[in-house]
Amino acid sequence: MIENMAKNLGRLKHDFSRFYKGNSHIQEVIPLSKTDTFPLDEKHLEMLHSFAKKNPIYYNSYQQDVGKIPCIVYEGDINEYWLNSISHSTSYQPFYPTWILTAYIIALIAKNLDYKEVLDIGSGDGRIAYCAKILDLETYSIEIDETLVDLQKLISFSTKIDFNPNCADAVEFDYSGLKLQHPIFFIGGLPQMGGDILAGSIIEKINKIPYLKKNTGMAFTGTYSKKYFSGNMSANVSKGGWKSVFDKNDLKVIKTVTLPTVWTFDQHVDTPYIFTKFN
Ligand SMILES: C[S@@+](CC[C@H](N)C(=O)[O-])C[C@H]1O[C@@H](n2cnc3c(N)ncnc32)[C@H](O)[C@@H]1O
Repeated sequence: MIENMAKNLGRLKHDFSRFYKGNSHIQEVIPLSKTDTFPLDEKHLEMLHSFAKKNPIYYNSYQQDVGKIPCIVYEGDINEYWLNSISHSTSYQPFYPTWILTAYIIALIAKNLDYKEVLDIGSGDGRIAYCAKILDLETYSIEIDETLVDLQKLISFSTKIDFNPNCADAVEFDYSGLKLQHPIFFIGGLPQMGGDILAGSIIEKINKIPYLKKNTGMAFTGTYSKKYFSGNMSANVSKGGWKSVFDKNDLKVIKTVTLPTVWTFDQHVDTPYIFTKFN
């Protein structure tokens, strides 16, 4: 069911990006109601729309059929947040969001893999943590930029979904204090742009908590874009740019799904989310 929904979302984005003629900075679609192609829980779907409606980065929305599926198109602008997000000396990735339905699908995969706690590392406006929370997982949303954390708190307040926003440098954060049991860390950055530093620091900390390591999952945001794989990086292409990190840390891939994100809107190939665990 999840794999089909992921494929269908890829098709929906492809159809939408071909006919979209607007000029907003960012845009995405969410189906209006449950269908065979998107068999989501109705209540969850409503909560995904609520996230977009209560989120001030979206300034416009309208109904539109996309490939015969009635959807709501959300148009937004993240420029101001993007600029703030790069102003920190230890920021390893600027703010670019994944699609809201993508965030839901990857959170659903985490739930189906039986993880109990989701740590959204470099959480932006908190959409992955939000989706995990509506799926009844325990959540920690870690974001370095305080304007983004204020945005998360606003969304948390107005949707009444407390996904636990924390303003902190994920590299410095003390994860041992959380008493995690069966966590999955979502790393919100591409390896070539600083995501490797975020991931490396967390792996180093997990290595120091032996009981935790065997129960921990790590989900990585990758890319298949050829521009990142010149010279000695070409060996990494098979694992979305993460192969050397996986080899070095003995991480085994358990699942990969490819899904739309804001940064792949104009691209033919979407973003791989790679779920791993320690061997
Ligand atoms: C590409 S965005 C991903 C946002 C979100 N995870 C999503 O998928 O929609 C990366 C985010 O990581 C944050 N970030 C960068 N370095 C960080 C750090 N050291 N600690 C915590 N957050 C960081 C940025 O401010 C930005 O919001």
